[in-house]
Amino acid sequence: MAIKKVGILGCGLMGSGIAQVAATAGYDVVVLEQEQKFLDKGFAGIEKSLAKFAEKGNLKEPAAAVRGRLKGATDRAALADCDIIIEAIIENVEEKKKTFSALDGLVKKDAIFASNTSSISITEVAAATRRPERFVGLHFFNPVPLMKLVEVVRTIATSDAAFDAAFEFGKSLGKVPVRTSDKTGFIVNRLLVPYLLDAIHAYEEGVGSIPDIDNSMKLGCGYPMGPFTLLDFVGLDTTYYISQVMFEEFKERRFASPPLLKRLVMAGWYGRKSGKGFYDYADPNNPVPVKF
Ligand code: CAA
Ligand code: NAD
Repeated sequence: MAIKKVGILGCGLMGSGIAQVAATAGYDVVVLEQEQKFLDKGFAGIEKSLAKFAEKGNLKEPAAAVRGRLKGATDRAALADCDIIIEAIIENVEEKKKTFSALDGLVKKDAIFASNTSSISITEVAAATRRPERFVGLHFFNPVPLMKLVEVVRTIATSDAAFDAAFEFGKSLGKVPVRTSDKTGFIVNRLLVPYLLDAIHAYEEGVGSIPDIDNSMKLGCGYPMGPFTLLDFVGLDTTYYISQVMFEEFKERRFASPPLLKRLVMAGWYGRKSGKGFYDYADPNNPVPVKF
């Protein structure tokens, strides 16, 4: 089945980025959110990013043409004729199951369902629908417009046809797809999440200050961002939910949430997106490390 129209659930950090790359690749895109204000915020980010690409001559057409293929919606009926639905809502298994289950009878039967989850079992979410054979993981990376990778996740129930279609779809977005199976954290987060959590443990143990740990990993290992900058960039709420899912699966300390991460989330300090996390972003161009 040819994919022409793409539905995205959630217009946060990831949903807005996925919507942008899909529209840039020529697809018609509808993004569903809970409230108009979230659509407005996500679309403002898309406009900014498209303007940067346009400025560098990296768009094949005017940004307005890309923007013209993007629509926002708060009524799920707008997704009925999509060929693929990509979910990028909060990292909570019950929310994801409820959302897909409500869409199942509404969206055409041969459409592919995909989750961008970082850690939740695709098999479990797929089982909340009557189309587990047409259900995959499509795990993009933040910031989606710049990061080249997409992990394409198959479950024991995914059909070859649906997996191949999702893999080709990933390529059509200009991404490099890799095959992976439905094991918690897939490839990247299995390796990345313990590293990020360990940086927080190291800080809690007094190994170094936040900027010194960040600079060490940047300058000593050539990482583009230090771990605390990356944690704030990913979102501390999202990282906390991921660590809970991974710890529940593996029962290993390296996946457990450090106490400081939990407290930051409880305080509503989610990182860059909320204005404060390990750094304070009162001036977004000059983040200041927070003292704990
Ligand atoms: N859209 C368009 N252009 C953008 C952009 C966006 N969203 N964000 C940045 N840019 C542009 C900037 O304007 C800049 O352009 P110039 O070179 O012309 O100035 C260029 O990209 C580079 O940006 P910066 O100078 O701001 O910063 P940088 O050189 O550090 O690059 C980065 C930015 C690519 C994000 C880099 O820091 C990076 O790779 N960081 C690590 C990101 C990462 O690890 N992501 C994975 C997170 S984990 C995950 O996603 C999985 C999960 O499940 C949690
Ligand atoms: P986010 O908090 O930036 O955005 C989530 C958005 O989903 C919010 O705007 C919220 O209003 C919306 N939402 C919640 N419930 C909804 C529903 N029922 N219907 C429609 N919209 C709904 O989160 P994010 O960082 O974009 O993460 C989204 C998903 O992508 C999570 O599963 C996360 O694990 C995964 N992910 C995140 C990253 C990252 O670096 N942040 C990277 C890869 C994957």
